[in-house]
Amino acid sequence: MRHDEQVRLIKQLCTHLDGDTNVDAGGLRRNPTATYTDPAQADREWNEWFRSMPQLIGLSGDLVGPGSFLTNNDYSIPILATRDDDGDFKAFVNSCRHRGAIVETEERGTKRRFTCPFHSWSYDPGGTLVGLPKPEHFGDVDKECMGLRPLPAEERHGLLFVNPDPDGAIDLDWLLGEWFNDEFSTWKFDELELLTTAEYDTACNWKLAMDTFGETYHFSSLHSDTLALTFHGNVQCYDEEGHLHRMILCKRAIDEMRQLPADEWDITVAGLPVYWIFPNVILMPFEVGVFVVRAIPTPGDPGRHVSKVEFYLRSKEEAAKALGLDTADFSEIATNIAQNFGEIIRDEDYVMSSSQQTAANAGSLDEIVFGRNEPALHHYHNTYRELLGLEALPLLDGISAGG
Ligand code: FES
Ligand SMILES: [Fe+2]
Repeated sequence: MRHDEQVRLIKQLCTHLDGDTNVDAGGLRRNPTATYTDPAQADREWNEWFRSMPQLIGLSGDLVGPGSFLTNNDYSIPILATRDDDGDFKAFVNSCRHRGAIVETEERGTKRRFTCPFHSWSYDPGGTLVGLPKPEHFGDVDKECMGLRPLPAEERHGLLFVNPDPDGAIDLDWLLGEWFNDEFSTWKFDELELLTTAEYDTACNWKLAMDTFGETYHFSSLHSDTLALTFHGNVQCYDEEGHLHRMILCKRAIDEMRQLPADEWDITVAGLPVYWIFPNVILMPFEVGVFVVRAIPTPGDPGRHVSKVEFYLRSKEEAAKALGLDTADFSEIATNIAQNFGEIIRDEDYVMSSSQQTAANAGSLDEIVFGRNEPALHHYHNTYRELLGLEALPLLDGISAGG
């Protein structure tokens, strides 16, 4: 993020802290709970967004050199993502061109050849069929046209995107817009390495998981013994542009940092930027890395999803130095921080999300309410409603018996 923007945001946080104010959406909105339970809507979301739009499947650091790969089964189509011999990012349907068996069953690693376990057809990291046993018995096969089926794939700003639809497109100019394309180019996501990964299979709709990242109103209450020790609750910056939006959470370290001259200010010390990538990704860059949360629907069950929480870091030496830690102790400390963060999401946020889902499933409330201090929720729900062709949630001055 450019430094003048960091200063603008930090000043805004300070103004809120000094005046005991917060962001203001300009009103409230009622949100129908059916959005979390309706099977027809869930099917549309799955087919229109998750099966046919670009999905973030990892960061450049997940594929460190030629032959490195990762597999992904989050979007029904099995995906094999590789870095080919030229270092280019590629993605394929992970299904053998012989009779369709899954070719690569490991989650990640490095291989020169991907060999199908069924009859040992083998493919190179560029997806080309390079060998099959007993070709003289099998019959005439033109290897050139029997490579793994390619999927649209693009690597940008250190982020790896794949469209699970082989005939689909990837339009990162639209998905990230000028704003995020510009800002992500400054975060150096391409220099990060994966430290930890966790999966939380949770009894709530994927949008309830996303909602929990959309405000800091709950910090002093739900996270009173955890995040509230590091963050000021009820304070944030919020900006939106088209379908994009970004929050800045406010760290308590701002209290000390604001005493320094503004040219020494750093947004990752004063706050935690939270970027939303449609439909289901939260990116939170911090001093030496980034947290990535992806909420993946469970097809056929609107009341369930799996959250994948990943923690990527700069090189151990660089990260340890930036945090003033001893390199020898760094991995253990960083791993603990990452695990604690994930456990807060699982044990605090997602417990609330599941209880919201229970109420929604029971039909006990037709609507819930988003406050003036929860603008990301207003924007997020109206953004996907627009894409689904649903009426926007109207802005209300207040909630009263009549309306
Ligand atoms: S199905 Fe893969 S080699 Fe036969
Ligand atoms: Fe939370």
